[in-house]
Amino acid sequence: MSILELLNDTSTIPTSYTSTPSDELYRRAVAARNKLGERVYILGHHYQKDEVIQFADATGDSLQLSQIAAAQTADTIIFCGVHFMAETADILTAPHQNVILPDLRAGCSMADMATITQTERAWDNLQELFGDTILPLTYVNSTAAIKSFVGKHGGATVTSSNAHHMVKWAFSQKQRLLFLPDQHLGRNTAADLGIPLEHMAIWDPIRNQLEANCAHEDVQVILWKGHCSVHMNFLPKHITHLRATEPDRRILVHPECTHEVVTASDDNGSTSYIIERIKNAPSGSKWAIGTEMNLVNRLISENPHLDIVSLNPFMCPCLTMNRIDLPHLTWTLEELVNGTVINPIRVDEETARYSKLALQRMWDN
Ligand code: 13P
Ligand code: SF4
Repeated sequence: MSILELLNDTSTIPTSYTSTPSDELYRRAVAARNKLGERVYILGHHYQKDEVIQFADATGDSLQLSQIAAAQTADTIIFCGVHFMAETADILTAPHQNVILPDLRAGCSMADMATITQTERAWDNLQELFGDTILPLTYVNSTAAIKSFVGKHGGATVTSSNAHHMVKWAFSQKQRLLFLPDQHLGRNTAADLGIPLEHMAIWDPIRNQLEANCAHEDVQVILWKGHCSVHMNFLPKHITHLRATEPDRRILVHPECTHEVVTASDDNGSTSYIIERIKNAPSGSKWAIGTEMNLVNRLISENPHLDIVSLNPFMCPCLTMNRIDLPHLTWTLEELVNGTVINPIRVDEETARYSKLALQRMWDN
């Protein structure tokens, strides 16, 4: 970044916001929010902190938030989530609408595990190995460039709420599928649909090679070697311990956890599924939940009639989700009141067009 760009850089929060007490920030954020009225709509992913969620006009998982974003007419959407979610919102909203990510450092380590260069290189290699037999599917937790690549090659996006359906659809199109970037969601979904684990190969984007335990002609699913660093913190030993000490505690995890954890748990499902399951749980029942900690803490405080713990007692929140906080939200709102759009997320037209195709295929199927 040149000195001139540095001087013009508005992506870093002024220190006055980080040094202001939260009760004052809260009052200022409410005042700014009220001034902006219907010009602004605030979306909050379930993994966001309470100090942010309290300002959300709508909360949801990735799928719900992208649908809500697509239906918005507000001039500006403030996306309290991570970068790939704000990109999706920008793709789905009209060109005159701004999508803001209050802190540009709110990325997703899983999405960053599949770059477009790695994906193009992998695709060329896989075409040589398997010919035109592969359909690419990408978890929405991926960059717009990857969604666009998938859209261009006849594939679609998936979320943790519709992965089963989309994997079935992929097999109605082609003999094999490439699942990016989360190997665990891919493996858990394919295994649920009856595909043997030995028929799933792994593409290693760093070593640029395929790891397979069967003959190439028997490979049905190629899993990208990516993962969520948050959900990887739930381990089989946590389940073994709970089974031995509290056999009546039900274990409910997100399918971004490893296959060992998912198969040893009682139930698994998307963020919304977990919330719904807890909402309908009988009073007094005991739960251990394997997902992001801000959400688990919220479920604990909102359901005092249940006994809920985190599956991993030393679990932390998702660090990148946590970068969106009250200081960044207040800064975003006050700048909007002053007529300045900070941290806009803009996906170029060509990338947006093909990404939209991948998203549309998900909604159409
Ligand atoms: P969902 O909201 O689709 O359940 O995804 C969880 C997640 O990790 C979001 O980053
Ligand atoms: Fe990415 Fe995992 Fe954080 Fe979700 S929880 S934003 S997948 S790192």
